[in-house]
This record gives sequence, C-alpha cells and structure tokens, in this order.
Amino acid sequence: MRMVVLGLGYLGATHAACMAELGHEVLGVEVIPEKRDSLARGEVPFYEPGLPELLKKHIDSGQLQVSGSYAEAADFADVFFIAVGTPQKKGEYSADLQYVDAALEELVPLLTHDALILGKSTVPVGTAARLADRADELAKDVSIEIAWNPEFLREGFAIQDTLHPDRLVLGAFQGGVAETVSREIYSSLLDAGIPFIVTDPPTAELVKTSANAFLATKISFINAIAEVCDAAGADVRAIANAIGYDARIGRRFLNAGLGFGGGCLPKDIRAFMARAGELGAAEALSFLREVDSVNMRRRTRMVELAREVCGGSLLGKRAAILGAAFKPESDDVRDSPALNVAGQIQLQGASVSVYDPKAMENSRRIFPTLDYATGALKACEGADVVLILTEWQEFIELDPVKTGQVVRKPNIIDGRMCLEAERWEDAGWAYRT
Ligand code: UGA
Repeated sequence: MRMVVLGLGYLGATHAACMAELGHEVLGVEVIPEKRDSLARGEVPFYEPGLPELLKKHIDSGQLQVSGSYAEAADFADVFFIAVGTPQKKGEYSADLQYVDAALEELVPLLTHDALILGKSTVPVGTAARLADRADELAKDVSIEIAWNPEFLREGFAIQDTLHPDRLVLGAFQGGVAETVSREIYSSLLDAGIPFIVTDPPTAELVKTSANAFLATKISFINAIAEVCDAAGADVRAIANAIGYDARIGRRFLNAGLGFGGGCLPKDIRAFMARAGELGAAEALSFLREVDSVNMRRRTRMVELAREVCGGSLLGKRAAILGAAFKPESDDVRDSPALNVAGQIQLQGASVSVYDPKAMENSRRIFPTLDYATGALKACEGADVVLILTEWQEFIELDPVKTGQVVRKPNIIDGRMCLEAERWEDAGWAYRT
C-alpha cells in the first residue's frame, strides 16, 4: 500500500522505516532540511539501535522516499500518518499542537482525492474530533477521514515495539474506512496475533495518555517507597523484587532511582492534567501532580546526596557525572534527569565532568557550560564523587579498582541502583544510592 508519514523525528522515522519493512511504499515528509537530507542519505540524525540499517535498506531499495514537499505528499497516496511532535508549551502544562495543526492545514487544501489521515502523535483527548471538523472546512470537494492510531514505542526499542507491538489501537469515527484500511496496513501484525483494539477517537487518545500516566505513576510509586526506605533503613530494590513477583503488580517499571525524564512521560502527564482541567475533571488526575513532584524530588535528593558525601559543600569539589541521556540506548537529552542534576551540582560550585556513550553532542548543545570528558575514566579523574545517572551497560561494567585509582575520593552514588554494591565496597568505595 502507498502511504505518507508526516514528520520524521523519533516516531515518524521509525514508523516510516517499519512500514517499508512491512512491504508498503512510503513517502516520509520532513520540513527541517538538515534532518531531511541526512535521512534521504539513509543516515539517522539520532541514536536508535537498528534504525540506520533499516532506513538505509529501504532508502536504497526505493521502498522509502524522503521529501520536504506537502504537494508531492498529497499526490503520493491517500493514507497519511501524522507523526509530528507535541511538546509541552513553554510556561504551561498543556501540549503544544502547532505542528499537528500545521500538518493538517498544509496537507488538506492540497488533496484532490479522498483521504484517510491517521494520527500517531500523542495528543490531548478531543484532538481528532477538532481536526476532523477543521479538515471538513479545509477540504476542497473531497472527503477527509481522521482517525487516531496511537504509538507506544519506547526509544531504544523503537523498531521492536513497532514491528512487534503489545497491541494496536485505532480510534475511528463511525462509517469510515479507517478500520478496513488499518487492517490492511497492519495485516502481517494482525496475522501474527497482535491484539487490535478498535474504538472511538477520544478513547484511543486516552488509551495513550493513560498508558504513559500509569507508567509514570508506577515509577513515582516505587520512588516514593524509596523515600520511606531511606527513612526506615530498608532496601527498595528488595521490595520491588518481592512485590514484582505478584503478577497483578509486575516487576517492570519498578526501578527506583533518579526517576523518569525524556520527551514523553513528563510532558504527557502534565498535558493530561491540563486537559482534564479543561474538561472539568481536574480532581480525577490531581494525583499526577504528586507523581510529578515525587519525580522531581529525586533530582534534588541526588544533588543533596552528592553534597553530603562531599562533606556538606560542593564548593570547589569535582563531580564525575556518568550518563547524560534520559535513559540508556538513547542519545535523547530532553528533560534528562542526569543533565538536570549535573547542572544543579555545578550551580552549587562544583566542577562537573560529564560522560555519556551517545549523548555528548546533544548535551553540549543544551548545556554548553558543563565539562565533557572523552571517556568514563577520564570523567572520573580527580573526582570527589562519581554519580551514575544513566544505567548504560558500560557503567555497570566499570572496574571499581581501576576507577578507584583515578579519583580523589572513592565516593560513588548509584543514581539508577544498577551497580553491584559489594563489588564497589570490596574495592574500597563508599557506595550510596
Ligand atoms: C515512553 C513509554 O514507555 C512508551 O510506551 C511511549 O510510547 C513513549 O514514552 C512515548 O510516549 O512516545 P520512552 O520515553 O522512550 O517511552 O522511555 P521509557 O522506557 O518509558 O523510560 C522513561 C523514563 O523512565 C526514563 O527516564 C527511564 O530512565 C525512567 N524509568 C523507567 C525509571 O526511572 N524506572 C523504571 O523502572 C523505568
């Protein structure tokens, strides 16, 4: 089937490449010229394991093309995916829908044939209905159907999550072709037994925001328990393991530590609260404010812990920050807890040396005043405290003896609770979480 993907960021580039992998003929549209040019050469301008290979394969075969032209897109197909970003508005909790709106405003007047527009971007409930009304106004003698087909991929596992999702969700208005067309698009996934939930658009929009809100709540729940564990001298990891055996609870997303960041969970829970407020249901989601607070407290606490192990003041001390990406297997530093902590430690007078296997360039761009080291051991040279803030495998495997030889003081703070405490303590380190 021929289809267009509008927006080639983390979500769109992955979706476009995966649709080509499913055998479709795909045109990806990206309005930022540098991004577009590198994708057209088969190069991915961000780190996502496996994506460069998949993209190159389908660019080379011609199955996937990249363009900057909405006119070309309008002629190319009658199925369109909207995969543009929906960041948090500056100074507000709500989602900024300008890119979603712009995609529709540009595309629809150019359409000379009936079309189905499937939204993949994470949007506030009610967006599909609003866009459907607007599409009717913009359409010139053609019929435009809008439906929502939310995406649940995780960065770092984007291809796996797209080609082997836990479920597919479609929110369609009655009387359209969205379900039939979607069944064709995803036929090989449906044949493989992937559950397909067909519902109305508001429900589909809410499935996505609810999923992210639940995940964020799960993380903040275990981090709240971690606060109690600190006060009571208990072990939060053992608690996570023990309660995780209960199938009703499950062990995943119960890793306590520095908490969640990135381009999705933080802004999605805030946009969800804002939308619930607009709908007069603010009270229902008031707990998400606490989820956000618990999460942000983890960052402050990490800075306080660093100050404590440095004898009460960070002034004139050296801190090694291992990890800058918001999670491993990603170079994404949007709302990165690690960089947030690095910045706060620097503000308190310490010199900070940051190392991350993949996120150095992105970090430098948003935090140019931090020092960046060329390797983990380099970052640790002369350090009074080493903080592990992203659980890259490279850091989990770090040699405590060798690392101990380069630091000034053997203090390690395991911000992701990912190290074997005993290994570090046996090598003479003071280990804290
Ligand atoms: C998240 C969701 O997991 C995806 O299902 C969703 O599609 C995506 O947002 C999105 O809306 O686009 P992602 O942001 O890639 O995916 O990352 P996650 O794996 O969810 O991790 C989010 C943050 O939570 C990271 O900072 C991670 O370090 C933290 N985390 C995760 C914890 O602190 N503890 C855990 O147990 C798990």
